[in-house]
Amino acid sequence: MSSDPSQASAPFIENPSTENDPAARQADQTVALERGADSGSASVSAPVVAWTQDPGHQHAWLHAHHPAGSVIVGNAVVDGSGATLSPGDVEDSFYQILAGGARYVLFTSLLDFDLPSLLQSGPRTSEEILTWLHLDRHRGRKWLHALTLTGLLVADVPASDDGERDAHTRRFRLGPAVARMFSAGNHASYFYREFLRYYRASMAHALYSTLRGVPVEYAVRYPPTAPADIALLHEWMRNTALVTLSVLRRHVDFGSVHQLLDVGGGDGTMAMELWRDFPQIHITVFNLPTPIDMLRETAARLGASDRVLGIPGDFRFDDLPQGYDMVMFSRVLADWPPELCRALLRKAFRSLAPGGRLVICEPLADQNPDLAIAWEHSYLPYDDFGLNVYKPLSLYKHMLAEAGFQITAIHPRDQGTIHCVIVSQKPAS
Ligand SMILES: C[S@@+](CC[C@H](N)C(=O)[O-])C[C@H]1O[C@@H](n2cnc3c(N)ncnc32)[C@H](O)[C@@H]1O
Repeated sequence: MSSDPSQASAPFIENPSTENDPAARQADQTVALERGADSGSASVSAPVVAWTQDPGHQHAWLHAHHPAGSVIVGNAVVDGSGATLSPGDVEDSFYQILAGGARYVLFTSLLDFDLPSLLQSGPRTSEEILTWLHLDRHRGRKWLHALTLTGLLVADVPASDDGERDAHTRRFRLGPAVARMFSAGNHASYFYREFLRYYRASMAHALYSTLRGVPVEYAVRYPPTAPADIALLHEWMRNTALVTLSVLRRHVDFGSVHQLLDVGGGDGTMAMELWRDFPQIHITVFNLPTPIDMLRETAARLGASDRVLGIPGDFRFDDLPQGYDMVMFSRVLADWPPELCRALLRKAFRSLAPGGRLVICEPLADQNPDLAIAWEHSYLPYDDFGLNVYKPLSLYKHMLAEAGFQITAIHPRDQGTIHCVIVSQKPAS
């Protein structure tokens, strides 16, 4: 815990009786503190761990902690880890939470009114936008203003003191991130729209009744069972598989692999690409029966069946085939809770020849905190998804060590990808 009084967020209390000698108040002292909101106004006694004095103010700085968790010190809060939150920090957190909800609603409204298409040909004034969309003038202008506050829209000049004139002269365009998300030719825009469609259905469930156990209408099943849902999952995957494979190829030398087992390898999009580019490689895709049928059909059509094999099975219950020099999980483990992942890693260990490598390519919770919140929240109503499916690196490391693997390389997510690639090895003997 810092005792630096210049730290902007440090708490202070008025303490005129002792403020001239802060050092004397060190150590053994305790002070009555008001506990956090959970316990109302009950007072507790917490050790004072540091007193310092801000020379610029007639205040003594009090740093304290309490094993019970958050403690209010004067106007500030010391949380369980010892970090200090000023009243401003708390206020900011509150509004950050609400702004998250506002951003989401504004974002979906922007898409519902299809501003990406409207603004594709160039920036527009609010008068043009509102006329085109048949919006109420007063509300519509406020909507555009809120969109600019979030950065979803950008105006060419700041708002003036004459809203009426601005309406005819100030021009709006999409913010850079949204423009990129939905620009023509960005293959990922399909995924953004699709995920949002799924996400909105999940958001429509009232969390209160869901958590009380009220049955969920139209629950998402995982793995999908209805043919249309299986097709949709694999369309999502097909659309994003090659970008993911390019990340894998940055970090894994597939030129040295002879027998590759791709567990949960989708409809074989990645397998076909590897087959085409690496003539030495033989690939086995292990997947549920329907995607294996898709894979076999594609492999037959492309003449790849001699080196691309599909094995149908359910990895929850079945063992994986054996005798490979590389086993790959790409975007598979992030769908499953640690208990099943641990079992899958043990199965992968048995599949590998001694010295064989395991490649994991997943978005990790600690490297993608917002992604983890969005997905884990969307899974709340759907019981097929387990607890803690987006896992941090530390958990992967632990599970790999437990299964007997030695990690040889970790390539964290970077600006080019959300995925982390972890390469590990089964010991040679
Ligand atoms: C998110 S997709 C990833 C596809 C591919 N690996 C990729 O990165 O493009 C997950 C894959 O795991 C497969 N899968 C899900 N549950 C499975 C299970 N119990 N047994 C075998 N495969 C399963 C799905 O059919 C799907 O192809």
